[in-house]
Amino acid sequence: MRYITTPIYYVNDKPHLGHAYTTILADTMARFYRLQGYETKFLTGTDEHGQKIEQAAKNHNNSAKEYADKISLEFKKLWDEFEITYDIYARTTDQKHIDFVQNIFLKMYEKGDIYKDEYEGHYCISCESFFTPTQLINHLCCPDCGKETSLLKEESYFFRLSKYQDKILKWYEESDPILPKNKKNELINFVQNGLKDLSITRTSFNWGIKLPKELKDDKHIIYVWLDALFIYVSSLQDENSKFWPAHIHLVGKDILRFHAIYWPAFLMSANLPLPKFVAAHGWWIQDGEKMSKSKGNIIDPRKIAHTYGLEAFRYFLLKEVSFGNDGDFNEQSLINHINAELSNEFGNLLGRIIGMSAKYSQNYIDHKDVLIYFSEEYQQAKKHLKEAINFLEVLQTNHYLEELFKALNVANLSISKYEPWNLIKNNENKKANALISLCANILAQVSILLNPVLPNSTKKVAKALNFEISSKTYQKLILNNELLDFKASPCEALFPKIEQKSQKENEIKQENKAKIKIEDFSKIEIKIGLVKDCQAIPGSDKLLRFELELEDNEIRQVISGIAKHYNPKDLIGKQICVLSNLKKAKIFGYESDGMILSAKSGDKLVLITPEQLVENGSLIG
Ligand code: MSP
Repeated sequence: MRYITTPIYYVNDKPHLGHAYTTILADTMARFYRLQGYETKFLTGTDEHGQKIEQAAKNHNNSAKEYADKISLEFKKLWDEFEITYDIYARTTDQKHIDFVQNIFLKMYEKGDIYKDEYEGHYCISCESFFTPTQLINHLCCPDCGKETSLLKEESYFFRLSKYQDKILKWYEESDPILPKNKKNELINFVQNGLKDLSITRTSFNWGIKLPKELKDDKHIIYVWLDALFIYVSSLQDENSKFWPAHIHLVGKDILRFHAIYWPAFLMSANLPLPKFVAAHGWWIQDGEKMSKSKGNIIDPRKIAHTYGLEAFRYFLLKEVSFGNDGDFNEQSLINHINAELSNEFGNLLGRIIGMSAKYSQNYIDHKDVLIYFSEEYQQAKKHLKEAINFLEVLQTNHYLEELFKALNVANLSISKYEPWNLIKNNENKKANALISLCANILAQVSILLNPVLPNSTKKVAKALNFEISSKTYQKLILNNELLDFKASPCEALFPKIEQKSQKENEIKQENKAKIKIEDFSKIEIKIGLVKDCQAIPGSDKLLRFELELEDNEIRQVISGIAKHYNPKDLIGKQICVLSNLKKAKIFGYESDGMILSAKSGDKLVLITPEQLVENGSLIG
């Protein structure tokens, strides 16, 4: 039995590429478990309480519930359009969830794990999280998102998180539940530094779950994270309760702490078993920054899927980044993956098999001589398939796809090497047919294993070669090494090559790229600045803080997301270009007065410098 969950998404924001990635990855895993024959439940849904949602609703002149209904439906519609195979679409405003949370709260209270006191601390509404003064950036800003926090002093109920410190460490040690493995140490350090009891109720707003009636304390609302995390259990009532504990909670790295520290403690307090894995993926970033509505750098997943096809989009997301790392969204790379892998290696192989079997064996593909002539090639492909499965079990989707394409490559290379048309010419019909069968069996097995990522295209392969993709054939072909006979029939080309690269590429970006007039350009002021100082920003692996000298010795502070591309020391003394009349902004708690210009070349950002030394502050135009 396997139960996999995505985080439940806040309804203050429309779904974007980051959300789509989490959901598509979880969908791939759920499909993989079903293929392996596990009884599977896959949960996704929305997180609808809290101050952040209350505020967003107000901004839209909606009641909180109306607003939550609207955005929750948007998420659901997108997942339906994307053919996401969720079994449970959970919402924290569902009455059965509310009842469940109140019950559990009471249980934890009665056990002595919850007590009442007074809270004073810094709260970030955006992250719905408390911080101590020493954790803040510049004594004010949230260390996670950089936004300003507010000082809160209110009566609050507390959860005895400190009591669970050692038990949590023991869980990391004994069960090794964190994926990728390298995230474990960060968590151990955090927990070893000491866990403070956690404030788990609020009184300064209304939109949330009230305390259980038994406590007769009506003004308190249950902390949104305690409310939200229990959705994973509250959604599994009655006959579904057997699915707990979860096999994997899939989360973004920003919310790993909630899932790997608070959540196991809450579960222990509630006497419930702990999940097997908590797996944290990286972020999709644009120009060095996490994609988010507030930064205005979001990519609409629907547009990409419409432009390039849903399956190519799924493939790209899972191939482009290594699990746990950040990924920069780049359309050119998407096109390259479609052309080089999906079209050349995968689609073409099917075309070649159909063509050759029609020509040489009346569409019949007989497996009887494969191991006589091509045992080595077959074993080699098999080795890649085995590796692929091992990688997918731990969500290393890029390596899993790499291995599957290595197996396809064995087939494609064998065709070039043995040239079946020449074998036929030389009357080696048996060998030629065995070669076609080798390729068809590899393609069939790869298609079964690729099915969780490309459900529709692999079904087309199965139809064209007349076999089935199911947990039965997974068992037979993948695990028991059976070879099949096939009867091929014509099929439309899979993943036709994308020729008009630039035109396609522009379709998505065009929206913001209307032509401008010279008057518009004249509003822009770009100047040359001398880098007087340049430092990495503590706590960020992307940002650098520049001090630039412009005309009349004016010194400006500018924050730029190029830390991954330059060593700050190397930039001191260089002249660079800065957009100097940009409105000031706060980035990661630092004021930024301008924007440093760089050219994007593939994955790299390259600073633009004048061709010869000029006066500081010189205007560009
Ligand atoms: N509501 C909480 C989760 C509660 S789970 C009990 C939440 N919601 S969220 O909508 O802000 O984020 C949901 C998920 O989307 C997180 O895992 C987050 O990491 C992910 N992403 C949001 N932006 C992202 C990117 N730019 N890239 C990849 N994923 C990111 O947190």
